[in-house]
Amino acid sequence: MELSVLLFVAVLTGFILLLVKGRPKARGHLPPGPHPLPFLGNILQMDRRGLLRSFLKLREKYGDVFTVYLGRRPAVMLCGIEAIKEALVDQAEDFSGRGKVAMVEPVFQQYGVIFSNGNRWKTLRRFSLATMRDFGMGKRSVEERIQEEAQCLVEELRKSKGALLDPTFLLQCITANIICSIVFGKRFHYQDEEFLKLLDLFYQSFALVSSLSGQLFELFSDFLKFFPGTHRQVCKNLREISAFIARSVEEHRETLDPSAPRDLIDAYLLRMEKEKSNPHSEFSENNLIFNTLSLFFAGTETTSTTLRYGFLLMLKHPHVTERVHREIEQVVGAHRPPALDDRVKMPYTDAVIHEIQRFADLIPLGLPHIVTKDTHFRGYIIPKDTEVFPILNSALRDPRYFETPEAFNPDHFLDANGALKKNEAFIPFSLGKRICLGEGIARNELFLFFTTILQNFSLASPVAPEDMDLTPQESGLGKVAPTYQIRFLPR
Ligand code: HEM
Repeated sequence: MELSVLLFVAVLTGFILLLVKGRPKARGHLPPGPHPLPFLGNILQMDRRGLLRSFLKLREKYGDVFTVYLGRRPAVMLCGIEAIKEALVDQAEDFSGRGKVAMVEPVFQQYGVIFSNGNRWKTLRRFSLATMRDFGMGKRSVEERIQEEAQCLVEELRKSKGALLDPTFLLQCITANIICSIVFGKRFHYQDEEFLKLLDLFYQSFALVSSLSGQLFELFSDFLKFFPGTHRQVCKNLREISAFIARSVEEHRETLDPSAPRDLIDAYLLRMEKEKSNPHSEFSENNLIFNTLSLFFAGTETTSTTLRYGFLLMLKHPHVTERVHREIEQVVGAHRPPALDDRVKMPYTDAVIHEIQRFADLIPLGLPHIVTKDTHFRGYIIPKDTEVFPILNSALRDPRYFETPEAFNPDHFLDANGALKKNEAFIPFSLGKRICLGEGIARNELFLFFTTILQNFSLASPVAPEDMDLTPQESGLGKVAPTYQIRFLPR
């Protein structure tokens, strides 16, 4: 037999032996879970319909806290609001690390607030929150900015004269413009070609990360990264957006007035200058680019997809839309734009928006965390740096907290007197130290954009409500809402 054939047989036999006998060695005392194969982890337990289905099935067998091997990496899954809260809130510091999302890791490389850890993350989170507050509430408040953007959208939709249109890109434009005005100090026109190109890159990247191939890549990135695939496209897209940010930073440098910073980039550049003699400063060029990319990405796709889901749900449930229209007429009327103060007087609309977010379940698996030290949790020991997934879907769709968890039902958030009812399992923004940094802005955008559109338009579709299928196009780390054409008919 030829030497090469012998070698091949030896390697194959070794691999099969390893597959049958060996298993990844875990430190600590991890929660229970299915027996993993070497290299392949729990591939055999994965459902063809994606990671979420797989994890929910495993929960039935192993309970609320269990371990799954994503390829070679053990990951602890937390299901149900009780387990998620115990970890992210009661042991907040221990669970505050960020795990990797393999698809985007080559681009972010642990720079920027979403994907950094330790001192870098603390510094960037503090800085981002403070500057977003400053530039959101300075001369013009975030409320005013959102109201202005909402009026621009109304004008744009009026131009359509009730023709059928897919609102995906317009909704992206308005949410991106709110972040852009805070970060870049300017908004873009809806026809600006460069802007539309960037938004398309975001949309495609979010869809690819959420796709089945994206989920497969999370399992086997160590191996698959050497081959062509959608992960390369995602990195290419994000690098193109980073290049745009870098160009914008250069423009800011040329026009920077130290006595009057205009936006987050200006504030960062001033801080960079102040700390230039500190070799340990986190205010580096890389953190500037990738922090900006983090805010831009996190702030655009999430809120616009939720709004898109919202309008589709309104088409599917016309009786709900009717009640929202009525409440807007009673509280706001037709002659002034909705304002944030109206929210407390509009419990039905507020409940509808809560229910849209619950139903949309936009980040069903949560973003991966890691434990920052060896961590005792519910009798187990989770070794430092182990990944932890707070499965937000398991709280948002928990039948113990929501009467009809799979159905769209605003009553989930209304008490017997029609007042807004809080629900502790409502955690679309997650919990704890890593809780969404843009929660306040996102909630304000959802309320003002949603009510302004419905104040000005009735929605119509050629598809009958009962024939509208609202199953997401993609559902992995994120969910991509289905697309339908909508008529926005002036009221
Ligand atoms: C409906 C809209 C939104 C939803 C559902 C949402 C949801 C989330 C979730 C689930 C996380 C992960 C939290 C965790 O690690 O446990 C997150 C993180 C984050 N979000 Fe949002 N988000 C939304 C809008 C926004 C907006 C508008 C911004 C920006 C202004 C933003 C910025 C961020 C950032 C920077 C992080 C990372 C925080 C960190 O790692 O410390 N998000 N978001």
